[in-house]
Amino acid sequence: MKDKIEAYAKRLKLSWIREHFHEVEAENHQEYLLKLFEQEVQNREERKINLLLNQAQLPKTGNQPFQWEHIQIPQGISREEILEGHFIHQKENLILYGGVGTGKTYLATLLSLNAIHSFGSKVKFFTVASLANKLIEANQKGSLPKLMKQIEKLDLLILDELGYIPLHKEGAELVFQVISMCYETKSLVITTNLQFGQWNHVFGDPILTEAVIDRLIHHSHLLVFNGESFRYKESLLQQ
Ligand SMILES: Nc1ncnc2c1ncn2[C@@H]1O[C@H](COP(=O)(O)OP(=O)(O)OP(=O)(O)O)[C@@H](O)[C@H]1O
Ligand SMILES: [Mg+2]
Repeated sequence: MKDKIEAYAKRLKLSWIREHFHEVEAENHQEYLLKLFEQEVQNREERKINLLLNQAQLPKTGNQPFQWEHIQIPQGISREEILEGHFIHQKENLILYGGVGTGKTYLATLLSLNAIHSFGSKVKFFTVASLANKLIEANQKGSLPKLMKQIEKLDLLILDELGYIPLHKEGAELVFQVISMCYETKSLVITTNLQFGQWNHVFGDPILTEAVIDRLIHHSHLLVFNGESFRYKESLLQQ
């Protein structure tokens, strides 16, 4: 009988039930069945979240709470709406602008984690340079449409470090295509150390740069990160 139950559970893709049905204790049939269903659903949700976390490829983070003191937030959005990822439902963008070590990547990572855990959002984290390389490589291999389709399925795309490395022409054009595709269909979070007026240094072409900025800022919130580098402060504290 045990073998048959396992076989049916497998056919029905009830993997938790297949492995654990014989361990569950209950007073009656209904309670037993309820426990099985509850555990199966919980297990599925955990697996889904783990999969989303794996796919997102977020940087490792510490667990210190996020400090907002040196960050200017525009009107129309609150700290909670940012940190909890609520702007994703409106398909709005965030631009996180400021100097090194001020928490841009940290905030982008924390809000991504929250969106995955709370809403099961599909998130993907790239540095701008790594996305450009990936797009160029896919273009050469003929797999660009496939990569674009994967990006199209996301709810939130994080583009980190816009500004540290200028893009080659092909990379700039392909990154533009991605930003264009995301326009009004999903949320983008971009971290940068450059004011808009200097984005030309990254994209290398004023017309392309203008088109990028135009799409980005239409539904976006600009957060300005002031203050000193946390990395610097933390290393001073350790000494
Ligand atoms: N506002 C903050 N609240 C709490 N911790 C912070 C904050 N900002 C930075 N930190 C800490 O400092 C580390 C460095 O910050 P982060 O990597 O986010 O900087 P960044 O703005 O992305 O810098 P860069 O432009 O050099 O990439 C974080 O991993 C975190 O531990
Ligand atoms: Mg960073």
